[in-house]
Amino acid sequence: MRNYKIAAIPADGIGTEVISAGVSVLECLQKKVGDVSFQIEHFDWGSDYYKKNGVMMPENGLEKLKAFDAIYFGAVGAPDVPDHITLWGLRLPICQGFDQYANVRPTKIMSGIQSPLRNAGPGDLDWVIVRENSEGEYSGHGGRAHRGLPEEVGTEVAIFTRAGVTRIMRYAFKLAQSRPRKLLTVVTKSNAQRHGMVMWDEIAAEVATEFPDVSWDKMLVDAMTVRMTLHPKSLDTIVATNLHADILSDLAGALAGSLGVAPTANIDPERRFPSMFEPIHGSAFDITGKGIANPVASFWTAAQMLDHLGEHDASALLMSAVEEVCAAGIKTPDVGGKATTRVVTEAVIAAIMKR
Ligand code: IPM
Ligand code: MG
Repeated sequence: MRNYKIAAIPADGIGTEVISAGVSVLECLQKKVGDVSFQIEHFDWGSDYYKKNGVMMPENGLEKLKAFDAIYFGAVGAPDVPDHITLWGLRLPICQGFDQYANVRPTKIMSGIQSPLRNAGPGDLDWVIVRENSEGEYSGHGGRAHRGLPEEVGTEVAIFTRAGVTRIMRYAFKLAQSRPRKLLTVVTKSNAQRHGMVMWDEIAAEVATEFPDVSWDKMLVDAMTVRMTLHPKSLDTIVATNLHADILSDLAGALAGSLGVAPTANIDPERRFPSMFEPIHGSAFDITGKGIANPVASFWTAAQMLDHLGEHDASALLMSAVEEVCAAGIKTPDVGGKATTRVVTEAVIAAIMKR
């Protein structure tokens, strides 16, 4: 029996709804697969916890999480708590504290889901965006001076280190190499930003020599939005900075039909710490409690988690069940269906069990 300890942090908004859907699917996989078990412990950290305790998670939060094999995360963000508090209080400390420097965001058009792109269907858009997840524009460097005065200054400094860029570049080349097309696009803004971004380009060229079988090209981030929209088939694996990939991955999710299906994995490739898996969509307070949140992203990220744990068969089983359910038109309103979270979840469970 292979036993995995998983920390579930549903946190805010629809996070609770989609993580509970995901947990029932994991329990079903455990039944189906037989020789694998998930020991799932829930943590009530997030904005409600903050309102009671003044912090998003306890001081020893990271210490507690260290003991787990993976973290299954919902969403953070609440209408009555500033976003920078929810973010810097929970999600970023986990990503940065555990040095989860590779953020992996696969996107594809699933059958049964309509892309807003005319003539694009399954197979026309199948990408993985690799987002640098430990530094860049999210380094937290900067400050404010002359607060409240007319001469007030705010700085937000992006930090790019040779070590940080080299390791994400290597990860991206390796991932591209593992995919059938062996194709990588390196995104920067090295025409306007002439220091860190030029260093990205240089390091990309250096790392490329270690992967002679991977074809790669460079794109400026603004032109990249055009290529993603007009020539989605020309792309496969994509690597970009923390902020650029944040923006491009929202575009990718929208082009694939809905952010409700887009997953993300925050990975420590060296496995010194647990990695964290979450849907990309946020806490979505407009639909919280209505029972209509799309659970597909949380299922897909559970599949990423299973892959990371080495449970490739269970991961493939889950993804094929999810694809079958989407193709059958059992889907939530954000992707044009009428089903509730529960109906989709039960359909995925039934599809797993009948396999
Ligand atoms: C994401 C989100 C976050 C990010 C927000 C919630 C700060 O947009 O995971 O893409 O920018 O990292
Ligand atoms: Mg984002």
